[in-house]
Order: sequence, then C-alpha cells, then structure tokens
Amino acid sequence: MSVQKVRKAVIPAAGLGTRFLPATKAMPKEMLPIVDTPTVQYIVEEAVESGIEEILVITNSNKHCMENHFDKDYELEARLTESGKTAQVKMINDIANLANIYYVRQKEPKGLGHAVLCAKSFIGNEPFAVLLGDDVVVNKGGKPALKQLINAYERHKASVVGVQTVPKDQVNKYGIVAPNKNVAADGRAVKLDNLIEKPNKEEAPSRMAVLGRYVLTPEIFELLEDQGAGAGGEIQLTDAICRLIDTQAVYAYDFEGIRYDVGDKFGFIKATVDFALDRPELRGQVMEYIQSIAKSK
Ligand code: G1P
Repeated sequence: MSVQKVRKAVIPAAGLGTRFLPATKAMPKEMLPIVDTPTVQYIVEEAVESGIEEILVITNSNKHCMENHFDKDYELEARLTESGKTAQVKMINDIANLANIYYVRQKEPKGLGHAVLCAKSFIGNEPFAVLLGDDVVVNKGGKPALKQLINAYERHKASVVGVQTVPKDQVNKYGIVAPNKNVAADGRAVKLDNLIEKPNKEEAPSRMAVLGRYVLTPEIFELLEDQGAGAGGEIQLTDAICRLIDTQAVYAYDFEGIRYDVGDKFGFIKATVDFALDRPELRGQVMEYIQSIAKSK
C-alpha cells in the first residue's frame, strides 16, 4: 500500500511569548533572531528541506511582521540594488521565494490542539506535518528532523511524533510517550501505547519527550474538534494524539540532531552561541571572547 505524500505543514505561532517579555511585547517571539535570522525562518527552512510545499502559519493579531518577513519588499530591494548590494538582494528574495506560506488567525489562545485545529480546512484529507517554533533542530550533515519523521511515516504508514530523551526532572515540561512493550522497536521508531502531556516525575511513563515535530494523519481533526481542555486548562494536541491510538497506530521517532529550546532563555543563548560558532566570519572572534571570559570569571 502506498502512502499519500506529506506536502503540507502547520507552524503554530500564536503564542504570547510571555517567557520573553519585554522583547515580545510588540514583536512576535518567532521573529527573535538567532545571530541574524529569525527563529521562524529556520523552522520554515527545515520544512522546505524536508520536502514540504505549502505552509500554514497559525498567527494572532500581533504577528504582521512575520508575514512581511516572508513577503517581497520592493522598496528595500530597489535601495539595495541601487547601492550595488547584490548579495543582500538575493538574500531577501530567497526568503520571499522559500515556500508558499499562508496565514490564519487563532482567535482565542486555547492551546496547541486548538491552534492545529485552525488548519483543518487548509489541510483537508491528507497527512501533514506540525513544527513548533520553540524547538530549533540542527542535524549537521544529516537529514532534517522533519524529514526523518516523514521517512518514518512512509515506512510505518502511521502518525509519528518526534522524540528525544530528556532528564527525569524535566518530564513535566513536555508531552511524554509510553512505548508499547509488546512491539519491538524498529531502529529509532517505537509504537506507542499512550502519551501524557506534562506528567509529573512519578507518573511519567518514560523520559522520551515530544520535541516539536509531528507527522499526523487527518483523522486527528475529528478528535481535536471535541477535545476537552487538558493540562494547563488548554486543548492539548498530545491528548488528541493519545485518543488517535484507539483507532490507528501512532509511532514515536527518536530523531537525530541537536534540539534547542529557543522558547527558554538559556536555550536561546546556547543556540545563539552555537550558531555563531558555526559561522566562519564570526567563529574566531566568538571563540576568543568565550575563552577570555572563561579565564577571567
Ligand atoms: C508543547 C507540547 C508538548 C511538547 C512541547 C515541545 O508544549 O504541548 O507536548 O513536548 O511543546 O516543546 P509547550 O512547550 O507549548 O508548553
């Protein structure tokens, strides 16, 4: 049996960004730059490199500049052209041509499950990806995290959530999966029995946390439509995926790559340092600076 290709992705970006106030008072958190590139651009690039053709961003009324970022800017282009800055002209045009990006507003902040439900008519009856903007994943020299999940989806013909192991004292920050003990793991993929959103240490069924990447079958929408509020009083995507297990197989895939929690201040700083060290034009200076503070503190 062949499976439908995963062509569409949803990027929920309607969060208030309260962990990054005051920066996010007037600016969407998705536009905070890591070195010089907004975090949401890394997410869109991952989707495109994974074969995604159409992207729906779930926004709110405060997110106009994200739409501008992925649009053409004729005035800027004209000015850069006049001053002979051809590399920059190419850079801004490449961003505008990255993908077909659409936007829809989530009218009330009712949680991630509710945000994904806003994509129902855009997705229709096909499998789709979800990428969360707080999780930036780098897999240097390897396949992007989402591509790894899409491959697992094609192999198992079932929904796949991307996971990695987290320390025991952090399970309460994530959706935690329970592998089915009767089905042997297939490489990095395990069949699931259950998922729990933000369990406490004692009730967590494993340390494998869902880290912002999903490939889902469209049946998830029927479940999201009548999904009640869960952890934090919000409609949780994790709870609907858990109910999906009653009618179809769901897998977790332990993806390769370094994941940065850029929704967290320290995670953001780590991403900034690592991404800067990866830039040939910055590496030398940044390294020298880090070494000098390490010696002096
Ligand atoms: C969301 C999901 C959670 C997942 C996490 C990954 O939580 O609900 O299942 O583990 O993203 O970053 P949030 O961080 O939005 O509270």
